[in-house]
Amino acid sequence: MTPLIEAARIEKKFGSYMALKSVDLAVEGGSVLALLGRNGAGKTTFVRILSTLLSPDGGRATIAGVDVARDPSTVRSLIGLAGQFAAVDDTLTGRENLELVGRLYGLRRKEARSRADEVLERLSLTDAGDALVRTYSGGMRRRLDLGASLVGRPLVLIMDEPSTGLDPRSRMELWRLIEELVEDGTTLLLTTQYLEEADRLAHRVALIDRGNMIAEGTPDELKQRVGGDVLEVRANTTSDVEKLVGVLDGVGSGRPVPDLRDQRVTLPTSERVQTLLAAARRIEDAGIAVADLSVRRPSLDDVFLNLTSAPAASEVPRSRPGEATAPRPLESWQVTG
Ligand SMILES: Nc1ncnc2c1ncn2[C@@H]1O[C@H](COP(=O)(O)OP(=O)(O)OP(=O)(O)O)[C@@H](O)[C@H]1O
Ligand SMILES: [Mg+2]
Repeated sequence: MTPLIEAARIEKKFGSYMALKSVDLAVEGGSVLALLGRNGAGKTTFVRILSTLLSPDGGRATIAGVDVARDPSTVRSLIGLAGQFAAVDDTLTGRENLELVGRLYGLRRKEARSRADEVLERLSLTDAGDALVRTYSGGMRRRLDLGASLVGRPLVLIMDEPSTGLDPRSRMELWRLIEELVEDGTTLLLTTQYLEEADRLAHRVALIDRGNMIAEGTPDELKQRVGGDVLEVRANTTSDVEKLVGVLDGVGSGRPVPDLRDQRVTLPTSERVQTLLAAARRIEDAGIAVADLSVRRPSLDDVFLNLTSAPAASEVPRSRPGEATAPRPLESWQVTG
């Protein structure tokens, strides 16, 4: 089967900066791909190329076999785009916004109205449909923006960081909505900085780091790349994190990975009990008091930490109150480069 979205060796330069370096990607019909990367990784640049808003400097991308650079208007008729920043008009009602989009798609007034009703219903916005968007919460606004991208019944939906900035409850609502769309067969490419979002919504995940595609696979395949289980040591201080990296070197089946923000060190292991005992012995010999020591299944965090370089202590943002309930953005590991 030919993928509905296909990109081969896509390159984009801004001046002398290579924002995308030979990016390859394929999304099968009816599936969800999450493009996961930190701030500045190149996610929006890639999305803008796929949605014909930006032309690539090299490579080729197609939607349902149609070349985005050669036939942008056909591509636009095939896709729905919900950009990183909501594009709805504050001075209109939700319904008016959707009707306007319908009219732009060439629907007659009556058709545009019934399509707007359908979309409002689908997004659970029927009750708020006649209120001005200005009065909407951030979550409602984001849902309406998603709705606008659905008016044209797109074959392919592209969402750039759909849940960034939403509170945990609105994020959950949006995730459920996206899952419903996917159950109905929508092909979706979404970008995200949230590992949890990629893990929950995507069939396949592509990791992008400074313009390079560094890994691609199902969440399980990516987790298996870490190999076996993960030993996790929670330290009491940031300086202990650095000491623990030295102390644990050679204990597991890979190198110890420091995570300064969460004051922990993780280590891949194929022999959970031996590794746990050896780690405990070494930590005790080194005279370091730790907060916790455990072995668990790998997460996408571990994959990302393993494939990219660790941040310097000075770059680690302090956690803010109330952050605990929100997923961790990859930004936490921002690396200079
Ligand atoms: N129009 C532009 N001119 C110059 N540089 C740009 C332009 N657009 C993007 N860049 C640079 O290209 C890189 C990739 O940017 P992009 O917006 O694609 O990242 P992103 O992954 O979407 O980040 P974020 O998570 O912050 O949205 C960044 O270093 C950015 O500064
Ligand atoms: Mg972006």
